[in-house]
Amino acid sequence: MRRPALLLLALILAAPGETLRGTVVDAAGQPVDGARVRLRASQTVVLTTPDGRFALADPAAAPGGEITAARAGHIIGGVTIKDTVFDYRIQLPAIPAGDDATYPWVTAFPDDDQAPGTDFGREPCGACHRRILAEWQESAHARAAANRRFLAFFDGENRVSFKHGNPEADGGCATCHVPMASGNHPRQATGVAGEGVGCDFCHKIAEARPGEGAATGVRAVELRRPPFGRQIIFGPFDDVPRGRDAFAQVFAESRYCAACHQARVGGIAVYSEFEEWQASRFAGDGITCQSCHMRSDGRATTMSDLGPGRIRREPRTLSSHRFHDTLSPGFLADAIGLTVTARADGDAIIVEAEVANRGVGHHFPAGSPMRHMLLVVSAEADDAALPMTEGPTLPAWSGASLEGRPGRAFAKLLADGERRQPSPPWRAATLASDTRIAAGGRDRSTYRFRHDRPGPAKVSARLLIRRTFPEWAEAADLDTAEIVAARASVVVQR
Ligand code: HEC
Ligand code: HEC
Ligand code: HEC
Ligand code: HEC
Ligand code: HEC
Repeated sequence: MRRPALLLLALILAAPGETLRGTVVDAAGQPVDGARVRLRASQTVVLTTPDGRFALADPAAAPGGEITAARAGHIIGGVTIKDTVFDYRIQLPAIPAGDDATYPWVTAFPDDDQAPGTDFGREPCGACHRRILAEWQESAHARAAANRRFLAFFDGENRVSFKHGNPEADGGCATCHVPMASGNHPRQATGVAGEGVGCDFCHKIAEARPGEGAATGVRAVELRRPPFGRQIIFGPFDDVPRGRDAFAQVFAESRYCAACHQARVGGIAVYSEFEEWQASRFAGDGITCQSCHMRSDGRATTMSDLGPGRIRREPRTLSSHRFHDTLSPGFLADAIGLTVTARADGDAIIVEAEVANRGVGHHFPAGSPMRHMLLVVSAEADDAALPMTEGPTLPAWSGASLEGRPGRAFAKLLADGERRQPSPPWRAATLASDTRIAAGGRDRSTYRFRHDRPGPAKVSARLLIRRTFPEWAEAADLDTAEIVAARASVVVQR
């Protein structure tokens, strides 16, 4: 009488979702320890034991699906699930040894006439990855080599530029701004190198070692360019078994970005988002640069719009290549706060302003020390400005139109050997001051205005971010590219 019950149990165990077992081996047939095994596009991952064995139980496993395996240093492998196989063998092809500096970089931009074929090796990345191409084109990375501000401050005919004081040197600028260039001079960037921080460059990075010595950009990463006739693409996914993709953990880590977004020159942290992030709560919470700047749009369901081997994926597992910045809609507004309160005090009004860094993963404003932010506060009544009698004012470097006005300035200010400030990074001798707001921090300031006119007073505050100081912009024939990051106002009745 007990047999039917046992039979039923056996049937349940053999139903879809049964445990898949097998071995992962390398190109020489040797077992691979610690390989990541998963049912392609599903969320469960198991690691192989020292003898290369795995046992994967995933309720979604069904014939026709794929099991993939990945391990750093190997190309991703995979097999198709069949109901006749009980012991799988997954082989991981080897990554070609070394880095071949003669490798010709592949362009991002598809040729209009060219239909994507099956030549995986040299086809433009954007021919298939159309959404990603469009996102990247909107990002600063796509302009890194041709950005007119970069070029003006690299070798423009102006007293601020790097070349002005160092006609013979290259400053290592190309290592980050033009990493695919064969030489060190940004103006010599031709062909694909002119695409700046491009697809193929970023996806040839196997490992990043920021902060080791003074190496920056291309010199702070380990590139693995394949020899002629081969292709290899590094990425964050361990389940792309097309025979040329390799999983690299570093893609999901902040130190990947740090290769270019962290640099000290003569002890001064010129580019510092990485070390600021490390000191913030975001580092401890596992919220990386990618979590914010490459946050998925929540809609895309494929990483590629064309090409064999593409599958549907959960939108949240994909990322945006917009590399969100202050110009991305909502990005700034969600992360910062500006509030003003005001009250009457006899024939005066007292204004309190607060600027909060709520969700920026590092100091705010971020970026190169040429950048700065200004809080400009004003009060008016009866169509006339009220005079401030007590409170902070904006410094001379805010420019003629704002100098001396009520407000606060936030910047990392460098000084040169003669203590002149601000100094461009390439002539800096010391860090003069850093008034930016750290992650989670806030700045409060108080102002007293004389309210000597009839009617209610209106208090307004605006937060401006500029890409460079007005004086330098003028010297280089640029504008400051000022944006209004936030506004607030309040009315005080008499
Ligand atoms: C600055 C370096 C950088 C550039 C430039 C870049 N990528 Fe990426 N890419 C990354 C990183 C980092 C990730 C991983 C993001 C994550 O884990 O959230 C990624 C992920 C991907 C993925 C995996 C799918 C996904 O949504 O995460 C694909 C496909 C991809 N990139 C293709 C491209 C293409 C095509 C281009 C050029 C149009 C490009 N990348 C340019 C760094 C870069
Ligand atoms: C012929 C079309 C095609 C071209 C050209 C192409 N890709 Fe892809 N790529 C794909 C498909 C399809 C996938 C797999 C999609 C999936 O697994 O969902 C993919 C996957 C990827 C991944 C994920 C790999 C991983 O393990 O994380 C990256 C990164 C990537 N491509 C970058 C590039 C770059 C960089 C180029 C240009 C050098 C490029 N691709 C050219 C079609 C293409
Ligand atoms: C090869 C060097 C390199 C790597 C790697 C790199 N970046 Fe960048 N990034 C740059 C350069 C250079 C610029 C400035 C481009 C310009 O404005 O001309 C830049 C600009 C940016 C900007 C816009 C800044 C602005 O002023 O508008 C953001 C945001 C950004 N990067 C985020 C990231 C993130 C996140 C990562 C890691 C996933 C990353 N970057 C990896 C070199 C790099
Ligand atoms: C918690 C989310 C978050 C994290 C984590 C984060 N950032 Fe940011 N980042 C922001 C926001 C929001 C801004 C816009 C405010 C600003 O410009 O300072 C920003 C600004 C920037 C800018 C300047 C963009 C511009 O338009 O001026 C750069 C460059 C940058 N981040 C790089 C990085 C790097 C590199 C990392 C990792 C070490 C990182 N960020 C981590 C949210 C984040
Ligand atoms: C360690 C990598 C690295 C090196 C080396 C480097 N930069 Fe940058 N640069 C960046 C990054 C990352 C940004 C983006 C952050 C930002 O916009 O402030 C940037 C931004 C800039 C900007 C602001 C662009 C804008 O549109 O606001 C200028 C100007 C600039 N760099 C000039 C130079 C010059 C000149 C040199 C050489 C003397 C140089 N950089 C060397 C990484 C680097």
